[in-house]
Amino acid sequence: MKKIRFLFAIVVLAVLLTNCTNKSDEYIDPRGTDYAGSENCIQCHQTQYESAFHSSHFKASAPATKENILGHFTNGKNTFVYDKNTKLVMEERNDTLYQVLYKNGKEAKAYPFEILFGTKHAQTSAYWKNHFTYELPISYYKSINSWATSPGYSAVNPNFERKIDKECFACHSSNIGSRYITTSSDSITFMTMEVEEFMSKKTLIYGIDCERCHGPAKKHVQTHLKFPDLKIAQNITGFKNLNRQQKIDACALCHSGNDKMKLKSRFQFRPGESLTDYFRERPGTPDTLNYDVHGNQLGLLSQSKCFRKSPTMDCMSCHNPHQDASQNLASYSKICMSCHQQTKHKATTIKTLSKSMLENKCVECHMPKQDSKAIHFQQSNKAPITSYSLRTHKIGIYPPGKK
Ligand code: HEC
Ligand code: HEC
Ligand code: HEC
Ligand code: HEC
Ligand code: HEC
Ligand code: HEC
Ligand code: HEC
Repeated sequence: MKKIRFLFAIVVLAVLLTNCTNKSDEYIDPRGTDYAGSENCIQCHQTQYESAFHSSHFKASAPATKENILGHFTNGKNTFVYDKNTKLVMEERNDTLYQVLYKNGKEAKAYPFEILFGTKHAQTSAYWKNHFTYELPISYYKSINSWATSPGYSAVNPNFERKIDKECFACHSSNIGSRYITTSSDSITFMTMEVEEFMSKKTLIYGIDCERCHGPAKKHVQTHLKFPDLKIAQNITGFKNLNRQQKIDACALCHSGNDKMKLKSRFQFRPGESLTDYFRERPGTPDTLNYDVHGNQLGLLSQSKCFRKSPTMDCMSCHNPHQDASQNLASYSKICMSCHQQTKHKATTIKTLSKSMLENKCVECHMPKQDSKAIHFQQSNKAPITSYSLRTHKIGIYPPGKK
């Protein structure tokens, strides 16, 4: 492998903050001085903060603390068996969690859990080595409440050498880069690592935070702090002023799959911009492709008649961007019926259900859960492969009973 130099170049030195007294207390966001950080939004937007902070978006990546980790570390539930000589055990040692590989009863390798990805259905982990992150071979899956192979990993040979590149972070975090900022009592220094692919721990902002979706908001904060009586938002892009395509693009940045040719990093995207500046193809074109239920909600939705034939439908028609998807399927029925008051099902369709049952279950029949073709995993001890199922966003008519 090519030898890489660990050289740190000081690119911009010292923005002198001569008129600021309490410099070391001031929050410095790794994305730059035009960002305020989510903590700074609470004082004026408590409602949005309280719901968003507990949402999957904020937990799309997280530090691998005992609090955040979902899988088991205690006897019986913490072992993945590859074969009679090889097993991987999840262990806690001095407050750090590890995946420990045993060969013939002897410890062969141990790698720490450092970064977590995912929270709703599954959780994959990574560790740092030099300036790169690597995926751990075993992940946790809620559907089986247990550990199993990470997606695409072998159940025969544990592999600890697969890199997690910036792409994963671009959809699961708010920042990671090779440029970071340090502060001393009176200056801010920007440091840039020599090699562009390097990642600096210091630049990582876990989860999808307020400014990942709303863009840099430091000026917005400063203006409203200075003029507390201002009721009209200043220096921020309001979604209510965006058109349908712009709103869709702000979600499709991460919810339209990962197979498009990219022109720019997803991290650069700001609300109001067009994804055609980021990808060679506009995502979500309703062609004949079978989009996967994992990660491509827009592709699937755009193949539905509901989406194509109504001029207004976007993700916010059914989702509050500050909250997780509602688990209450009946709540979606109300949304369906706001456009489908007149629907008359055939007698054969309604014969088994009462009217109220039918009304609560639009989603069960028209957006059924389907198995992902991209993700499946193997359980310990050569148990059969298990599928990963998510609700499809291709709203349509499905044969009864087919899940
Ligand atoms: C000092 C008070 C204050 C702080 C701090 C603040 N905001 Fe605001 N914000 C406002 C006011 C006032 C409005 C206009 C009324 C409203 O929509 O709530 C607003 C509106 C908004 C809007 C809606 C814009 C629109 O036109 O629809 C967004 C988005 C927003 N703020 C994001 C943020 C983010 C992100 C942060 C933290 C980085 C933040 N705000 C911090 C006062 C503040
Ligand atoms: C996943 C992207 C996303 C995240 C994360 C996010 N927002 Fe929003 N926010 C939106 C969208 C989209 C809208 C417009 C909602 C609509 O039009 O129905 C919005 C609307 C708002 C508004 C206008 C009032 C309202 O509730 O509609 C404020 C204020 C706001 N967000 C603040 C915040 C703050 C503060 C945070 C962090 C705690 C945050 N947002 C996190 C996407 C996001
Ligand atoms: C920066 C990438 C990114 C953007 C932008 C983004 N999302 Fe997400 N979203 C994710 C990731 C990653 C997850 C999976 C989080 C997890 O479970 O760990 C997710 C999860 C979700 C979920 C499921 C949450 C749950 O637990 O039920 C919904 C619904 C959702 N996003 C809607 C939206 C909408 C609507 C927008 C646009 C306003 C949006 N997202 C913008 C990356 C993004
Ligand atoms: C194009 C954006 C994108 C990229 C790139 C991406 N993800 Fe995701 N990921 C998502 C979205 C959106 C979801 C949640 C919705 C879904 O599964 O459809 C998700 C879900 C997950 C989940 C399950 C979380 C849950 O509980 O729903 C894990 C774990 C995960 N991703 C890890 C990774 C890793 C590791 C990488 C890099 C190898 C990666 N992702 C790359 C967008 C992305
Ligand atoms: C914003 C309005 C709107 C919403 C919300 C909406 N739809 Fe639709 N839907 C439409 C339109 C318009 C059509 C096309 C009707 C036509 O072609 O005559 C349609 C078509 C359909 C069809 C026929 C599909 C086919 O392929 O023939 C089904 C089934 C359907 N919708 C179910 C639902 C369900 C279930 C929901 C809720 C999860 C829903 N719709 C939400 C507007 C909407
Ligand atoms: C017509 C209503 C509707 C629209 C429009 C819609 N969704 Fe959903 N979404 C749902 C329903 C219903 C669920 C499933 C909730 C459940 O099963 O708990 C869901 C779940 C999700 C999930 C979690 C998937 C899972 O199985 O855990 C994500 C992510 C998501 N939606 C993203 C989006 C994005 C991004 C858009 C816009 C491209 C969008 N949705 C538009 C109705 C909708
Ligand atoms: C038990 C499963 C089931 C449930 C629950 C269900 N549907 Fe359907 N739906 C079907 C089937 C099957 C068809 C096609 C045969 C028919 O029209 O009865 C259909 C057809 C439709 C159509 C197309 C009708 C047309 O004239 O082309 C729409 C729109 C629709 N459903 C909307 C809804 C809405 C809205 C709800 C919730 C209020 C709902 N459905 C609940 C199974 C279901």
